[in-house]
Amino acid sequence: MTEITRTFAETRQRGRGRVGLVPTMGFFHEGHSALMAAARAASETVVVSLFVNPLQFNDRADLERYPRDLDRDLEIAREQGVDLLFVPPAEEMYPLEPLTRVEVARVADHLEGPRRPGHFAGVATVVAKLFAGLQPDFAFFGRKDAQQLAVVRRLVLDLSFPVTVIGRPTLREADGLALSSRNVYLRPDDRPQALLLSMGLFAAADLAEAGHFEASELIAAVRRVGSGEDFEYVTLASQDTAQPIDRIDRPSFLALAARIGSVRLIDNVAFDLVAGNVIGDRGIRLSAPSRLYS
Ligand code: PAF
Repeated sequence: MTEITRTFAETRQRGRGRVGLVPTMGFFHEGHSALMAAARAASETVVVSLFVNPLQFNDRADLERYPRDLDRDLEIAREQGVDLLFVPPAEEMYPLEPLTRVEVARVADHLEGPRRPGHFAGVATVVAKLFAGLQPDFAFFGRKDAQQLAVVRRLVLDLSFPVTVIGRPTLREADGLALSSRNVYLRPDDRPQALLLSMGLFAAADLAEAGHFEASELIAAVRRVGSGEDFEYVTLASQDTAQPIDRIDRPSFLALAARIGSVRLIDNVAFDLVAGNVIGDRGIRLSAPSRLYS
């Protein structure tokens, strides 16, 4: 039985045994469900936080149109056996105008950082508040936001939060499109163009697994597949620092951002090194259309 909680204190007091936290902004899809399932398998108490965090939006229109549906989210949380759905009012998260920001230097310098000024400080600040206020043992994040994951891992290390951060694979539609709550704003006409993003990344992953480790080759493969796309960037970066790198010589990810219609999409494939071989994490594909559209 999933219960809604509204305060940090109440949520903390109800936790029993190891607590697994899934931080979210709601409008759940199968990517969130997979994080909840991973939390369920690892913890006695599963807490999902749902808060559309104004600090991380640098565009007011984007904040206002972020999709919201609490009844739908509660139903999905129940299906996943979540214990507590923490839905704090703004006064609980920010009782006064927040004067403190958590800035994770360098990790936020490239890729999304310069294009969304203040975004990662907003994310790091709210995640630090969730860790401090809820004191979870584990916290689960999707690898789709690879730079966010790097920011969170570094913030945990630098500030000694006693939490283990677990990154989980990206969930994708059967055709390869990475799941995102923002996909509900893609028009049917935009879909073929959106698909070229994951197709390009998969082509690059095939190359990497065949021994082509140079960033220039992998980036060229993505740009070739998506030749008509308006890419904001296509970059190979280190998983730890999110700094651009020239070749896959450490755990890394090939990331891109592009605007398709009115929606800005990001996607990536992660490269892990196993006994000197590169293994591309292309994510997990659904066999049926995502419930985002139902
Ligand atoms: O990934 C998200 O949904 C958000 O950035 C997060 C981590 C919940 C912080 O608001």
